[in-house]
Amino acid sequence: MVNEKKFLVINGPNLNFLGKREPEIYGSSSLEEIQEYTEKKISSFCKYVNIEWFQSNLEGEIVERIQRASQESLNGLIINPAAYSHTSVAILDALKLIEYKVVEVHLSNTYNRESFRHTRLTAKSSDAIIEGFGKEVYFLGIISQLREEDF
Ligand code: DQA
Repeated sequence: MVNEKKFLVINGPNLNFLGKREPEIYGSSSLEEIQEYTEKKISSFCKYVNIEWFQSNLEGEIVERIQRASQESLNGLIINPAAYSHTSVAILDALKLIEYKVVEVHLSNTYNRESFRHTRLTAKSSDAIIEGFGKEVYFLGIISQLREEDF
């Protein structure tokens, strides 16, 4: 019996409006479509991946979900803190509780954009950053945590 691999994906503010929100930057898929797409693509590589998706527009709710995640036995946390990436010491501090890998993802290449997006706070608590590949970043964040024996 192969061990199930469990991942938590956290999405921050305004990502519940993906598809409608600046599609020229973030693409035309809704968050729900991205979730379905990512799960389908991951399952074609590994059948034993379980992905929980969490989205909130509220900083405190994201902090509380990260705190709970620090008590859970997961194979990785993928987080797109969205605008909070550039401002949130609270999310930065909460992520320090996590003992497994944390991958920060961004749909857009934030370094191609306004200079205020170049300030990165939460990324200081992550093991890796993947950005600029649009909706593929969620797939890439998860697949990068799987090992040869998982395929
Ligand atoms: C984002 C980039 C952030 O600067 C922005 O505030 C977002 C989305 C991205 O996925 O490209 O909301 O995190």
